[in-house]
Amino acid sequence: MLGTWILAWGHVISAICWLGGGVVFAFVVGPALGKLSPASSGEFLVKVVPGVVRFFQIFAGLTIVFGALLLYNMGGLSLLSPSTSYGIILSAGVAFALAAFVVAEFIAAPIQMKAVRLVREMLASGAHQSSPELPKTLRLAGLTAVLTAVLLILTSICMVGAGFY
Ligand code: HEM
Repeated sequence: MLGTWILAWGHVISAICWLGGGVVFAFVVGPALGKLSPASSGEFLVKVVPGVVRFFQIFAGLTIVFGALLLYNMGGLSLLSPSTSYGIILSAGVAFALAAFVVAEFIAAPIQMKAVRLVREMLASGAHQSSPELPKTLRLAGLTAVLTAVLLILTSICMVGAGFY
């Protein structure tokens, strides 16, 4: 009982950090970057974004690990049985969660770090013109951040919905 309680809180708090941070970054901070001067957005990318990417990697990992342990602790894979409404909704949540993790870790984070690298290279070479690759990379970074946030919102809807059955 105490174990389930601790795992559930660990799961929900890490999910709040990942989802909350992801939504603010995708829908507020990312779009606002385009309104900054090239110098300010470059400084933001180099000094702030690597820490943000690390924060998401840590809390995404914790959410998945706590979620898997919680599932195991509550009864294991049989909870995902398609013969109950609970199982169907929880399975949909797990599928959205795994999709969000793959997009965040293997697509969005490398693209965000590529944008950081392009700005660092520009600053190191003393060039005044940013790489022609940078605008496309930033657009892709924004799109993948929005995709991750949407998948996480769908995950939360299913996870909270499952709790009603
Ligand atoms: C592989 C990944 C995941 C697994 C295996 C998993 C598993 C679970 C399980 C077994 C529950 C308990 C459901 C119940 O109340 O009976 C739960 C609850 C919850 N999960 Fe997940 N989860 C995962 C990912 C996520 C993600 C990515 C989020 C959101 C960002 C999330 C948000 C929540 C929330 C908010 C609850 C609390 C629902 C409630 O009790 O009302 N989960 N999860």
